Amino acid sequence: MSSSLSPDLRRRTGGHNVRVIFSEDQIAQRVAELGAEITEAYPDGELLVLGLLKGSFIFLSDLVRRIDRPLHVDFLVASSYGAGKVSSGTVRLLYDPETPLAGKHILLVEDIIDSGRTMKCLVELLAARNPASLAICSLLDKQLLPEPLPALRWTGFPAPPAFLVGYGLDHAEDYRHLPYIGDLIDG
Ligand code: IMP
Ligand code: MG
Repeated sequence: MSSSLSPDLRRRTGGHNVRVIFSEDQIAQRVAELGAEITEAYPDGELLVLGLLKGSFIFLSDLVRRIDRPLHVDFLVASSYGAGKVSSGTVRLLYDPETPLAGKHILLVEDIIDSGRTMKCLVELLAARNPASLAICSLLDKQLLPEPLPALRWTGFPAPPAFLVGYGLDHAEDYRHLPYIGDLIDG
């Protein structure tokens, strides 16, 4: 279900119209479910939750508070789309976690899978470091690939074919702080 913002909420977007696609409540409920599933899935061993910055920062911080077992958190920074809306297809690591990955369960947390290139490159890069396991948890998946990435174990929501913003997702660095996920109607 989607709806337009009230004038009050529109203040936060700088007057732009964002149609709500996943509300705060829907996101919170799904994040709690994912946290419970992840808790069940890793009964033992070291778990390192690796968030891809910047898009995953809100999702990761909500998600780890729903995972009921010991874990560590670190981040990766990869080159982004810049101000564009289309993937450039190349991924460079600008920040690499300092912790060794060998022997640990790695849970890679992403905001959205579009073409899948970013996650495919990162999985290849991280798998070479001999983790005990490597899985992806993505909040959103546009489901454009003929087959889902083999490492994709958890998805929050299937995403519509639109450019989404909010809850960490940006357009040219705007809108990351919206507490819901929506699409730009007039952006
Ligand atoms: P992929 O490599 O084409 O799968 O693109 C994934 C990356 O592009 C994500 O990490 C996002 O940062 C960004 N991205 C893709 N689609 C969207 C969108 O609809 N809104 C905001 N960012 C997006
Ligand atoms: Mg981004």
